[in-house]
Amino acid sequence: MNVESNLPTGLHQRILDNLSHAVLMFDTTLRLVFINPAGEMLFAISASRLLGLSAEDILPGGSPLLAALKRGLQSSHPITEYEVQLSLPNQHTLITDCTVTPLDTHPGDAGLLVELRPLDHQRRVAREEQQIARQQTFRTLVRGLAHEIKNPLGGLRGAAQLLERELPAAELKEYTAIIIGEADRLRNLVDHLLGPNTIAHKESLNIHQVLEHIRQLVSTELPAGIHIHTDYDPSIPHITGDRDQLIQAVLNVVRNAVQALEDNGEITLRTRARRQFTIGSRQHRLVCQISIIDNGPGIPEKLVENIFFPMVSGRADGTGLGLSIAQSLINQHDGLITCESRPGHTRFCLLLPLEQGSPSAEKTTVTERNPP
Ligand SMILES: Nc1ncnc2c1ncn2[C@@H]1O[C@H](COP(=O)(O)OP(=O)(O)O)[C@@H](O)[C@H]1O
Ligand SMILES: [Mg+2]
Repeated sequence: MNVESNLPTGLHQRILDNLSHAVLMFDTTLRLVFINPAGEMLFAISASRLLGLSAEDILPGGSPLLAALKRGLQSSHPITEYEVQLSLPNQHTLITDCTVTPLDTHPGDAGLLVELRPLDHQRRVAREEQQIARQQTFRTLVRGLAHEIKNPLGGLRGAAQLLERELPAAELKEYTAIIIGEADRLRNLVDHLLGPNTIAHKESLNIHQVLEHIRQLVSTELPAGIHIHTDYDPSIPHITGDRDQLIQAVLNVVRNAVQALEDNGEITLRTRARRQFTIGSRQHRLVCQISIIDNGPGIPEKLVENIFFPMVSGRADGTGLGLSIAQSLINQHDGLITCESRPGHTRFCLLLPLEQGSPSAEKTTVTERNPP
């Protein structure tokens, strides 16, 4: 991680490695001498390729960050720039707050410490926290309501059955049958609102085998004009999960993409390992990210905020349950499904923490920055 022996070691190194913000250090000639894993992720380039490069090589000319670094060399106080646009070598741009702190306490350590705090990341975390809070409120409400509805409904149904037995004429049973049928319909509706009721049987599994299984399942029902591409990161370690539940969750998302594309278009199944990644407000050391991307018309704007709630559907024959079930199943794995959509590009991300990072997890190469 670092090229000079007087750079952080031991505990300090561990702290830097586990920070969610990017930390970089440049020497007095503006040569990069340190970058932490969050920094590698941000630039989407490994430390080994970045260390030793000059700030000018890493940051395009005219970059406000480069100007801040040059000012930092002349200053003895930290400089903070807000909402700086940062162009990354992978053509992405992002808005970030940055602090440049001159370090000149020890002659050997002189240089500039740079902290980058991308705002897209903060916005994403805030949005996810809000999404989780809304869904929790909804579930609490539904659980309370379900209790209040199901008890009297059971009584009503039982009474109708007793009445049916006592009826003097067979044709009157038509009425009790209506009471029983409607009571059953209401109970089913409440059960659907409550979401899946199964306990997860978790085992260690290869997520790519799960995705390939889904691809085969969907291929049999795919119109000729729709193609499914895969872009897997083979370094992702095994995840601990319930195979059937994960299949169900991903299948619900993929089927929606197929339905949105109608009879032509592209679907991509992509996997990536994410280090130091936050899901909602919790930071995880390693997260498996499964993206399902399609180039269809996108989610109608008036629906997009609410698609994870049950009974929300944009299709005449839809039940509106697919995504709500998928979200509950992924929540049971301490994960989250997020969605972003515009015409021509809809992306659902299933985020699953890989808490017990195996040794291979440590070696996972960082291939992309945190998505917004
Ligand atoms: N990939 C997608 N592209 C466009 N719209 C989508 C996509 N995925 C989901 N949707 C919208 O979200 C709605 C809710 O999906 P879902 O919960 O699975 O219920 P259903 O499929 O029964 O309508 C869909 O009806 C559709 O309008
Ligand atoms: Mg659906």
